[in-house]
Amino acid sequence: MCGIFGFIGNRAAAPLLVEGLRRLEYRGYDSSGIVVRNGDLQVYKKVGKVSELSKILPNHIEGNSGIAHTRWATHGGVTDSNAHPHLSENGDVAVVHNGIIDNARGIRKRLEDRGFELKSETDSEALVHMITIGLDSGQEPLEAVRQTLNRLSGTWGLCVLFKEHDMIICARNGSPLILGQGDGESFISSDPHALSRHTQNIFFLEDGDMAVINKDGIDISRLEGGSSSTSMTVIEDDWGEADMAGYPHFMLKEIHEQPEALRRCISGRLDRANGSAKLGGLKLEPVRLRSAPHVRLIGCGTALNACKIGQLAIESLARIPAVAHVASEFRYNDPVINPNAIHFAVSQSGETADTLSAVKEIQLKGGDVHGIVNVVGSTIARLCGQGVYIHSGPEQAVASTKAFTNMVASLLLFALRIGRTRSFSRERGRSIIDDFQKIPDLMENYLSNPGPIDEAVELLKEAKSVLFLGRGLSAPVASEGALKLMEIAYIPCLAYPAGEMKHGPIALLEEGSPVVVIAPNDRHREKTISSMHECKARGAKIILIHEEGDSISEEADVSIAIPKCDSILTPLLSVVPTQLIAYKVALALGCDVDRPRNLAKSVTVE
Ligand code: M6R
Repeated sequence: MCGIFGFIGNRAAAPLLVEGLRRLEYRGYDSSGIVVRNGDLQVYKKVGKVSELSKILPNHIEGNSGIAHTRWATHGGVTDSNAHPHLSENGDVAVVHNGIIDNARGIRKRLEDRGFELKSETDSEALVHMITIGLDSGQEPLEAVRQTLNRLSGTWGLCVLFKEHDMIICARNGSPLILGQGDGESFISSDPHALSRHTQNIFFLEDGDMAVINKDGIDISRLEGGSSSTSMTVIEDDWGEADMAGYPHFMLKEIHEQPEALRRCISGRLDRANGSAKLGGLKLEPVRLRSAPHVRLIGCGTALNACKIGQLAIESLARIPAVAHVASEFRYNDPVINPNAIHFAVSQSGETADTLSAVKEIQLKGGDVHGIVNVVGSTIARLCGQGVYIHSGPEQAVASTKAFTNMVASLLLFALRIGRTRSFSRERGRSIIDDFQKIPDLMENYLSNPGPIDEAVELLKEAKSVLFLGRGLSAPVASEGALKLMEIAYIPCLAYPAGEMKHGPIALLEEGSPVVVIAPNDRHREKTISSMHECKARGAKIILIHEEGDSISEEADVSIAIPKCDSILTPLLSVVPTQLIAYKVALALGCDVDRPRNLAKSVTVE
């Protein structure tokens, strides 16, 4: 989604801004732009990739401060004029903005009535004119920005650059903004990935914060006036360099990183002696785990699929009711919150607006929420203040892979922990742990010989639609496989619990329709075979993901074998072939695997 990068210091700003934009590219965007302060404010912006912007930049741009933006269209089409930065009519003020201004229509109308000629269709452009009106009436820059923001409703991560003032002003309300303090230079970003190579000294702005940024310092105040309590954090987590390490795409790299990422996630957390798990970030004493009435898990997209697996694993191992919720629905359904219940917010980015609003709803109603989050220091992680980091490392491809397996692993660890306080024996816990420890190696083995993925691709690449089926823990794996293929190969995909197929989706099947079935050797196996027979009787071709050595393979047109493991752990392995299938189908269709159309890595609007 939209990204912001800014710099002020003694170095040339333009190359740093372009490099910052490149680091934000993975979030998804459709145009980009920069403005550099060099006597005048020089704006360059262009539809398309940052590489398109680079083509229109002069070889050398003077100027030691500037702000930059990647835009993911919300108000107005994908055009050069709608791209940010937006410049005031007198050329004195430039703005980049993430978020949505809800009352923009009225403001734009009033500006036009005053004689302003708006050059874009965006909500963001209004801000630059409002700030200019304030400056023209004699306000200082901070006051002009403050007065402007006080007239807005909506969300913003905002940066303002001034021709006449050597400073950048930033503000946050509902859209993340992070400031970095270097040696004689300061940085701004909407995403910690883009800052970590420049400085470890970070300020995470809170909603309602404003900041004046100079090369020598950062002064944070509150929108309503007075100083802010936001203080500097030294980021210790080694986020690492996010390059492709010789792989043709981030997605393929991240699929192959799963064994190592999983090792990181479970390392030090499996407690074999007690047949349980240690999750230091969870502030849940045994008495709370024993007395909780239920568990609720909230997420979007891939995180939601992980929640659904967590729901089944927690119920199965701990015999406590658990429910997975669609985050975007949660708050608006006015949920009843029991303060004794256990709530999890699951998110790779930790910035997803829908999940964030669900967290706020629970907290407002007296509940506490634990984060299951990848990005350290992200908004959800900080708002929850407790939880589990999944330690996947940077995930750059829009299609989530290694975050999914580590979310599932983290929820399985929690299921072990709560299960041991409530229901199952140490021996059962130890047996799961023994298999859990082997999963990274089993994943590695599978990835070194993934089976006939190319045959599956041949069946799928020209399909009108694809049906994914699974039962029990494999039903959410089917959903995840369908989501992956749909988002990067643009093939309509349906995922159904296998038994539900005959109640509707069977109508889609005709001679040659591909059906992907996930059927590990668990207690659902026989029933899944019946569903497969129903599909085959209608001429469907079955791509079957099953455990090695299982005679169920005879049912398949394409049989993809995964290693055997405890049935509670199977999603960690059965999802991997679905990731490879999606990747290779997208490649075969010539799609942009890492940056699929219309999608954003971090969805920061509701
Ligand atoms: O950062 P989050 O985990 O909160 O993101 C949630 C979804 O937007 C995300 O999983 C999305 O569905 C992915 N593109 C799936 O691959």
